[in-house]
Amino acid sequence: MTATIDIQITKTTASRLSETDFNNLPFGKHFADHMFIADYEGGEWKNLRIVPYGNLSLSPAISALHYGQTFFEGLKAYKHVNGNVGIFRPYKNAERANHSAQRLSMPAIPEDIFVQSIAALVDLDRNWVPDKANHSLYIRPFMFATDAALGVQPSSTYKFMVLTGPVGAYFSKNLKVKIETNYSRSCEGGFGYAKAAGNYAGSLLPSAEAMKEGFDQLIWTDAKNHEYIEELGAANIMFIINGRLITPSTRDTILKGVTRDTVIALAKHWGIEVEERRVAVAEIIQAIKNGQLTEAFGVGTAATIAPITEIGHEGQLYQLSDPSTREFSNKTLKTLNDIRYGVIPDEFGWNYIVG
Ligand code: PLP
Ligand code: COI
Repeated sequence: MTATIDIQITKTTASRLSETDFNNLPFGKHFADHMFIADYEGGEWKNLRIVPYGNLSLSPAISALHYGQTFFEGLKAYKHVNGNVGIFRPYKNAERANHSAQRLSMPAIPEDIFVQSIAALVDLDRNWVPDKANHSLYIRPFMFATDAALGVQPSSTYKFMVLTGPVGAYFSKNLKVKIETNYSRSCEGGFGYAKAAGNYAGSLLPSAEAMKEGFDQLIWTDAKNHEYIEELGAANIMFIINGRLITPSTRDTILKGVTRDTVIALAKHWGIEVEERRVAVAEIIQAIKNGQLTEAFGVGTAATIAPITEIGHEGQLYQLSDPSTREFSNKTLKTLNDIRYGVIPDEFGWNYIVG
C-alpha cells in the first residue's frame, strides 16, 4: 500500500503558459510554472513543497558545486488520447535514482516521495503537457549536496528537486556516429552506471571533438581496450543482427536505461531473440560488412528510438540501412508511442496515470 505524502503547494500568480510557443520546443529550454523541492536534514526528508519555478539562493561553498555530489533522472509524462496524463514507468527511475544516490554517498529518496512528488507536480502543471505527436512533458528530478563545507566528505544536507518542461523530439535527424577509441565515459569500478552529473561533464569534450569531425554522437567503448561497445551518447545502444536484438549487457560502466528495459520486454513479448552480452566493435563492423546488421539505434527517454545511419570507425565510414525500411525499430517506436499516449491497452502496466 502506498502511503500518501504531504506536499505544501504555493501556486504561481503569473503563469508563463500562454507565452510559451508549443510549436517551437527546443529540448530543455522551457520550464513549466512550478517545481518541487524537499530538504534532507537530520537524517530525513522534510519540507516537501511545490513552489513557482524560479532561482535558488545557495551558499557558493556547497559541495555539489565543488565535488560534484549530485545526480539526476529523466522521464516523461504523456497526454493520453482520452485526456488523461500518464507518467512512463516512474518507479524504474526511482529505483535508479537510489542506485545513483548510493554510489555517490547520498541519502536514498523513498520511492513514494520520488513518484508522488512528480505526480503532484505534473498534475498541477498538467496544462503544460503537450497534446501533440512525439511531444511530452520532460521530467527532471535531481538531488544535490548542500553543506557549505570544502572538506572532501559526504554532505549532511541535500535537496531533492523536480523540474518539468514541454519537449519535442530530442534528435531531429538520423545519426552519424563515431566509435570512440580514445576517450572513455566510464571505467570498471567507476560510476558510469550512476546518473552522476560528472559523467556528463566528462562527455562534453569528446562529443565536441566528434562533432568537429562531422559526427552527431559518439559510441562509447570500454575504457580498457576500446574493444567492446557500451552506449550511444546519452542513450543505450541496440542492433538487429540476423533478426536478433543484440545489446551490451549492463554493468558498472553502463547506465541501466528504462527505455532499454522496455524495448527488451517488447522484443521478448514478440518472440524475438534477445542477446544481452558483451558486443565487440569488430563483430559490429563485420556484421555491417557482410550485410547481417540490418538496424542500429539508440534508446533513451530523450532519444526515444534514434536511428543510426552512419558509423565511423578507424577512418572508415559505414552506411547502414534506410530507417524507413527498419521493421523492428519502426514497430517498436509505434508500439511504444501507442502505449505512452494511451492508444492501446497498457498490458505491461507501464503508465502511472495522474488522472
Ligand atoms: N545512457 C545514458 C548515459 C543516459 O544518459 C541515458 C538517458 O537517460 C540512457 C542511457 C537511457 O536511459 P533511459 O532510457 O532511462 O532514459
Ligand atoms: C534522458 O534521456 O533523460 C537523458 O538523461 C538524456 C539527457 C542527458 C538529455
